[in-house]
Amino acid sequence: MKQSPLIIGNWKLNPGTSVEAKDLAQAVKKLSAKIEKATVVVAPPFIFIPEVSKILTGKVGVGAQDVHYEERGAVTGEIGAGMLSGFGVTHVIIGHSERRALGETDEMVSKKVHAALKRKLTPVVCVGERVRDKEGRFYHDIAAQVKYLMKGLPPVAMTRVVIAYEPIWAIGTGATATAEDVKEMQLFIMSTLTKITDRKTAARVRLLYGGSVKASNAKELHDNGGMDGFLVGGASLDANEFITIIKSTLN
Ligand code: PGA
Repeated sequence: MKQSPLIIGNWKLNPGTSVEAKDLAQAVKKLSAKIEKATVVVAPPFIFIPEVSKILTGKVGVGAQDVHYEERGAVTGEIGAGMLSGFGVTHVIIGHSERRALGETDEMVSKKVHAALKRKLTPVVCVGERVRDKEGRFYHDIAAQVKYLMKGLPPVAMTRVVIAYEPIWAIGTGATATAEDVKEMQLFIMSTLTKITDRKTAARVRLLYGGSVKASNAKELHDNGGMDGFLVGGASLDANEFITIIKSTLN
């Protein structure tokens, strides 16, 4: 059985100051106080995590936007999974297309998934196609990404991974996949997972949709897209809009 919907706000390189980050965290905390049936997580820039996690001590979890696969060592500028869990981080986004564009490979994604799981962090791994070709070759790319990110994981560990389907053409562009596209991809990812593990394990992997999710399209995407929640970028910077998105996943 899957659990409640999961909605993650990816703040990316926002907001500009720690004061604004704290205000946003307070607003999310206040507005989400009565939400019982959804798991809500916000992922601020690393540097705001200590302050934000002091505010979000209750129901809203704190995530990170990336993690390095080494725990420590000579890797300038990186943050390890142990450091994150020490600050109360529960989820970590891995393999976001904006990081893959900077050179992150499937192999690095896989190593990061292992590093996160070792520290009991929930990896939220992004997969997505750059463009949709009419022949449907993009499905092969998604299958390859899914297989790679699950590589070497025993079934129990697989059920702890969250997969976020984020078509790259829909991220920050205002162009959203239709609920039908999302539903097709949900079924496709489930069948891919079933091939690499068993049906029961596959059914327990949570799937999210991300890419220009807004208050205005979230209900339709949730009701007809078949995913278990959303990874929200731009719209998560407005607490009211973020809460409306969360509420749209609750019936
Ligand atoms: P967006 O970003 O909602 O601004 O399109 C989603 C994401 O990149 O996770």
